[in-house]
Amino acid sequence: MRNFTFHNPTRILFGTNRMEELASEIPAGAHVMITYGGGSIIKNGTMDRIKAALADFPVSEFGGIEPNPSYETLMKCVERVKGKGVDFLLAAGGGSVIDGTKFIAAAALYPGEPWEILETHGAKISEAMPFGTLLTLPATGSEMNSGAVITRTEIQAKRVFSHPSVFPVFSLLDPTQSFTLPERQVANGVVDAFIHVMEQYLTFPVNAGVQDRFSEGLLLTLLEEGPKALSEPDNYAVRANIMWAATLALNGLIGSGVPQDWATHMVGHEITALHGVDHARTLAVVLPAMMEARREEKREKLLQYAARIWHLTEGSEAERITEAIARTRAFFEAMGIPTRLRDYGIDEAAIAKICDQLRAHGLVGLGEHATLTPVEVAKILTASL
Ligand code: NZQ
Ligand code: ZN
Repeated sequence: MRNFTFHNPTRILFGTNRMEELASEIPAGAHVMITYGGGSIIKNGTMDRIKAALADFPVSEFGGIEPNPSYETLMKCVERVKGKGVDFLLAAGGGSVIDGTKFIAAAALYPGEPWEILETHGAKISEAMPFGTLLTLPATGSEMNSGAVITRTEIQAKRVFSHPSVFPVFSLLDPTQSFTLPERQVANGVVDAFIHVMEQYLTFPVNAGVQDRFSEGLLLTLLEEGPKALSEPDNYAVRANIMWAATLALNGLIGSGVPQDWATHMVGHEITALHGVDHARTLAVVLPAMMEARREEKREKLLQYAARIWHLTEGSEAERITEAIARTRAFFEAMGIPTRLRDYGIDEAAIAKICDQLRAHGLVGLGEHATLTPVEVAKILTASL
């Protein structure tokens, strides 16, 4: 196992009927701005419950943060935050609202032009406003990490930043919040979380037995519970297990002390920026072809994955790996997520542009060895058609 520092300051409040605890999590007298998305929290009554819990606080609202949150929208909120003298942000939504709020928190105190935060991946941030989250969509792990992904629509660029100052102060994880999710978002969440684990697990062995077993536990949980969230949508236990698995998949724990890949995510972000495909769906397209293309360098972990997740212990090594990849793809398809670029109306002509964007963003050496070039990505995308 490699040396590591693990630090995660986010306090988790997990379970039902905890909304009234919001008031004790936020500094007394703070002017709170509630940030939210397209209105699902208004329709399902969550906004009213938040406001009731914060009855003793001055409260403002900023809605309209879109999926794949845009710099343009978020900058409007930054102006409002500054103008109103807001002290604390409360993000109520999925990964997009939480990521957007991280950007607002950092941009509001940033001395320069805030797009620089994305261009430098957060390196020049020195402080951010405090914020909490109320998670409505288990998927990204943003509720317990310090990363965010922001899109600048005018240049079709989706960029990542992270900084320790944008860990949420607290996150309220009530699994019943996910009951109102459309099936498509339930499936997206399960598959995104599954692939977060894969990006940190499916590399090469470094004798990190704890991280491997934790990762395998999360993968098996998502495999077992994911389909049940679709077939038994009212099952609280299923929703609770998925929510906690998704949080633990990307809160830094399983990625500590191990090599990490993230090539699938970097390619997926470019596909979303150019073609608007949901984040998880881009990953479900890229990952199987990525596993296939890199089966030699990932051979040992692929065999471990085949044995421990899919119980594939018979046949040649090549057969076991091929079958494990096929089962991974079949899982995504069983969740209702198509795994081919053409399923999203993307053809061969689009591949060169995706790879050009990787080059433009300096993403020319991806993967756990930082060796995967745009030329190889083009081959992987061709195999994903
Ligand atoms: O906007 P509203 O009206 O709330 O509707 C949302 C949105 O349309 C809806 N929704 C959320 N909770 C709901 C609900 N509808 C009904 N009931 C509920 N309880 O779901 C739609 C999608 O929401 P979004 O937040 O976009 O989804 P997700 O959580 O999958 O977030 C995706 C974003 O997170 C980024 C992605 O790139 C993408 O921009 N990621 C962030 C990461 C991080 N910070 O660590 C890591 C991930 O890999 C990912 O890149
Ligand atoms: Zn993801």
